[in-house]
Amino acid sequence: MKIAVTGKGGVGKTTVSGTLARIFAADGYRVLAIDCDPDANLASAIGIPEEQYRSVIPFSKMKKLAEERTGASGGYGTFFILNPKVDDLPEKYCINYKGVKLLVMGTVDQGGSGCVCPEHTLIKRLMHHLLVQKDEVVIMDMEAGIEHLGRGTADAVDAMIVVVEPGQRSIQTARQICALAKDLGVKNLYVVGSKVRSESDMQFIKDSLPGLPILGKVSLNEQIIKADMQGIAPYDLGGQVVQEIRAIKDRLVNLLNKPVHL
Ligand SMILES: Nc1ncnc2c1ncn2[C@@H]1O[C@H](COP(=O)(O)OP(=O)(O)O)[C@@H](O)[C@H]1O
Ligand SMILES: [Mg+2]
Repeated sequence: MKIAVTGKGGVGKTTVSGTLARIFAADGYRVLAIDCDPDANLASAIGIPEEQYRSVIPFSKMKKLAEERTGASGGYGTFFILNPKVDDLPEKYCINYKGVKLLVMGTVDQGGSGCVCPEHTLIKRLMHHLLVQKDEVVIMDMEAGIEHLGRGTADAVDAMIVVVEPGQRSIQTARQICALAKDLGVKNLYVVGSKVRSESDMQFIKDSLPGLPILGKVSLNEQIIKADMQGIAPYDLGGQVVQEIRAIKDRLVNLLNKPVHL
């Protein structure tokens, strides 16, 4: 299963992605979490200690390795065609933590042009060629906005989750994402309400995005904010946030009709 988590900046994409990754892993799935945001912070939402995180080499730096293995002209595309399995991903570029394998795509070089085009190409290639087994889940924590949603990235996923908070700006981004995703042929598009305070917040989200299935919600939760300040992952916080995101996971697995008994 390949799942992309999208939405406006700050809505809770990384919180949802990191927690989903830990829940799938706890349920026995083999999980590959991919931080596709140049402003990478998925590691902390998974709960990876900083010392361990510091050792990771962004995947975009593997161009050299790809060239070595495939010949200078082949690059990423050929590399993934030749090495299409999650297990083929070079260990050097992954962090393993509590059943979650994390890949960090790459950060924008400080003072550079700020262009993330090579990373976008890399994500596209990876999405396209990565073969995912029945007991494997790939969760992509996407960059905010829609610029990265090109053909080849979006249409290679089994499901796209649009995280929305109750507010017009977040809804507008969600509408743009949904329109584009439909044009690109995304198969399963779902909404998750985030920072929800009440039933009427959920109603607002439902009314604003008619026709889109809602997977569930994550309530506005002071504990998540406090935990974030202390560097504690939402999964390790336990309680309500884990229950809510577990319900989202169960719903997603059922809708994709791929419940795996592990
Ligand atoms: N349900 C929630 N309740 C309260 N705070 C939240 C919730 N979800 C996320 N946050 C906080 O909002 C901020 C942005 O969340 P994050 O997951 O990083 O968003 P994104 O990845 O969409 O930019 C973080 O400080 C996070 O702790
Ligand atoms: Mg994020």
